Amino acid sequence: MGLKPATNPDVEAATIELSIDGKSVTAKSGVSLYDVISSTGKIIPAMCYHYTFDPFGSCGMCLVMQEGKKAPVRSCTAKAAAGMIIKTDGDELFQARKKAVEKHLSVHPLDCPVCDADGHCELQDMAFQHGVTNLANAKQKFIPEDTRSPVLDFNMNRCIACAECINVCKDVLMIDALQFMKKGGFNQVVPKGDLALSCEFCGDCLAVCPVGAITNKFSKYLYKPWQMKKTTTTCNYCGDGCQMYLETKDIEVVRVTSPLSWKNKWGDRTETAKGHGGLCVRGRFGFEYIDSTARLKQPLLRKGNQLVETPWLETMHQVVDRFSEIRRKNGPDAIAGLITARCTNEELYLFQKLMRVGFGTNHLDSSARYGHLNFIHASQHALGIGRSPNDWEDLTKAKAVILIGSNITETNPLTAVRIKEAIRVYKAQVVVIDSAVTNIAKLASHPVLIKPGTEGLVIDGLVKATLEMDLIDEDSIKKHPQAFEALKAAVARVSLEQVAAQTGMSVELLKETAAIFAEAPRSIILCAEGIVRQPDGYRNVLKLIDLAWVTGKLGQPGCGVNTVTEEPNEQGAVDMGAAPEFLPGQASFNDQAARDRYAKAWDATLPAAGSGANLVEILKRCRSGQIRALYVIGEDPLATLPASMEVRAALDRLELLVVQDPFLTDTARMAHAVLPACTSAEKDGTFTNLEGRVLRTREAIDPIGESLPDWHIMTALANAIGCQWEYQSPNDIQAEIMKLLPGYYNLGQPRKVVPTVDRYLSNGYAADVAARYRAAAPSDSKSERPFSLLMGQVLYHSGKMSTNAPGLITIAPNTGRLRMNPQDMEQLAVGEGSMVRLTSDFGSVQLAVQPDQSIAPQTCFFPEHFNEPPVKDLMSVQVDPTTGVPSFKRTRVTIEKA
Ligand code: SF4
Ligand code: SF4
Ligand code: SF4
Ligand code: FES
Repeated sequence: MGLKPATNPDVEAATIELSIDGKSVTAKSGVSLYDVISSTGKIIPAMCYHYTFDPFGSCGMCLVMQEGKKAPVRSCTAKAAAGMIIKTDGDELFQARKKAVEKHLSVHPLDCPVCDADGHCELQDMAFQHGVTNLANAKQKFIPEDTRSPVLDFNMNRCIACAECINVCKDVLMIDALQFMKKGGFNQVVPKGDLALSCEFCGDCLAVCPVGAITNKFSKYLYKPWQMKKTTTTCNYCGDGCQMYLETKDIEVVRVTSPLSWKNKWGDRTETAKGHGGLCVRGRFGFEYIDSTARLKQPLLRKGNQLVETPWLETMHQVVDRFSEIRRKNGPDAIAGLITARCTNEELYLFQKLMRVGFGTNHLDSSARYGHLNFIHASQHALGIGRSPNDWEDLTKAKAVILIGSNITETNPLTAVRIKEAIRVYKAQVVVIDSAVTNIAKLASHPVLIKPGTEGLVIDGLVKATLEMDLIDEDSIKKHPQAFEALKAAVARVSLEQVAAQTGMSVELLKETAAIFAEAPRSIILCAEGIVRQPDGYRNVLKLIDLAWVTGKLGQPGCGVNTVTEEPNEQGAVDMGAAPEFLPGQASFNDQAARDRYAKAWDATLPAAGSGANLVEILKRCRSGQIRALYVIGEDPLATLPASMEVRAALDRLELLVVQDPFLTDTARMAHAVLPACTSAEKDGTFTNLEGRVLRTREAIDPIGESLPDWHIMTALANAIGCQWEYQSPNDIQAEIMKLLPGYYNLGQPRKVVPTVDRYLSNGYAADVAARYRAAAPSDSKSERPFSLLMGQVLYHSGKMSTNAPGLITIAPNTGRLRMNPQDMEQLAVGEGSMVRLTSDFGSVQLAVQPDQSIAPQTCFFPEHFNEPPVKDLMSVQVDPTTGVPSFKRTRVTIEKA
């Protein structure tokens, strides 16, 4: 099974010629005749056809006449062969198709007035197209609706048994949660085992269903399709940047659909030809945060101990007066700002400009600091590119993938679909190295379970195995013999046996993985939270680059070292200069030429070179009283960072805390002023996804209450403190960025970036690499606390935002439970729901446990989205000395029965 040949141009098959409606057509032998016909631009009726999986051939609509055959043939299941003579039109075909529609309608309920598919139902369209007016034989099936799933309802009275839902789930998503089952005399679609649906709830089955047999619980009976406005935009949950349609009625978001939805499947494929075009659960069912009743609708100003609703004008006056006073008394360095990477490029650009030009401070940072900057800095340092080099297409066509420290089906589900496609269509060897039994590991050719926190040691082992087995690329090392000698010397300290003992990855597997990576023609490394959000993240990315270099994979087509971004615009945040070390375009803040260029463009004096505090340093300076005013846009450091970072003490000491957010966050509750901001559904702009594609977000509804887009608030603030900004819309900001960063807006195409390793290898590499490989054990292996506690993302949530989406909370509420391996639970003599005491060097919390087979023994997991109980406060924090990235997702704990 795999992508249909028509959408997979790489299919290896002989080229043949056949005739379609009298015209000679060239095609690949053996591909679906339907695909060959549609590649000529002719769309023939079809209901069970889909471009992403192999044909099922049940609906009987795609009939064509083949010379030499008496009866019409189903073109979707027929395979193209040389010399075929095909006719796609004619009365005989029309009548045969009409009969097929009548057959379907004879067991269809005709409850169109109350069906959600009314107006975009393929059966309805086919009936209309074929003039089916005699419905006297229509019979009811009287099957009760299956409403057991939290987001989808199954109405099998309407099912035409096309199997598209089953196939998309099994073949494309490789989840396989649905099946046909004979019940009540009919073949019905049921969740596997006829239990309540237990799956990833992506809703792709709903999207492909040609009729109204699968419905969305959140929008059922709420609309008729023609009543809704459909806005094409980009998902605001993760860095995959999926394209979606927000369907709205006035200021209400009714539902989310995507290019995978019905018509695209056999009509215009321009939007879908490069991928399957679906969404994950967050994208499809997580939209309700947009018009949540918890949204802030008015500015709030602190009056005594209370935050009181106050008009915009009065609030802004106060904010501006107090910022100005603090600057006047204490200088610009007393002011700092933090921004979320959920803001648009235009807003991130404006933010750093406001801080640097408006306030005159370089104390600014974004949520890219939580990990992505480890990758950016390593890649910039070694390769001169601050981005992942490969796009989704490269990933799909990879022959070898090393996925290390990434629970990708949870964090970036649609990038995960690409890896699934690589496995399924391109037969890629995929090595998944993780300390949990992840879903992608279950599909991989080489699932490798390692001890928590040993990812860096595994990389040591892979580089060592590569050198030991002489898997090196002669051409690459010939150019840099000294660098190669330095690497060999550094790695000499590494023992494969020791690595195996410390990590749990056997010597054989280390060697096999090294060989798979080195020998494949298209090899990709993808690292994520287990590398970039952990201590030594920067150093570990550099080691992955070493591995790619010695095996000759740097700069080769379809090869490279990549990461994924958890928030939608972490890449954009860095590209726009929302970090003290970077100006827009990732120019160094200390680079004189860049400073001159921006100073001229902005007609301003920039803060001094070498100045600037990042997130951790900003909080430190807030605590010490050096920073007295903090402007926080969309960030919630109080709810995100562990208690040991003393965020509350830092915020308490401030003379002015201004929080701009769609919601009253924990940090906002401490603020002097809270400014209500719009979500991305209420504003225009762009995000830069993990491939480097710049994607549009579009205003789908008017701002909720008196909330305003972040760019608008920042412009007003800048003008009130003396700037003369004339931005009337995000387009004006975009025009300015375009001038400064030509080529950045690339019309949705990934910008190709080429790594240049030569400068690095011939300049400073030897000294750098010497410190990178060490024979030492992982830092926490000597701890007396026997368990590793991990905090991380789960599929159904993203940061704290999704906790305001009732749909996602219905699927994944905060159980406040610690997930543990059942074996460990047995040893502790605790059952599901039993209370345990979890103790780290930083404190203790009590919480209930729940068994989870995906958690490795001696490990436990708590989702990072919830602070109840405050498990995050048990975490220790390590700050990377090079990149300033704070790691706080793993610590050692003891677990006792409470
Ligand atoms: S929601 Fe997604 S995972 Fe669940 S059954 Fe449908 S296609 Fe499969
Ligand atoms: S539920 Fe929809 S997609 Fe699934 S078999 Fe029935 S008609 Fe086809
Ligand atoms: S994969 Fe990411 S961008 Fe795509 S729908 Fe899911 S959360 Fe949104
Ligand atoms: S599309 Fe070919 S049988 Fe349904």
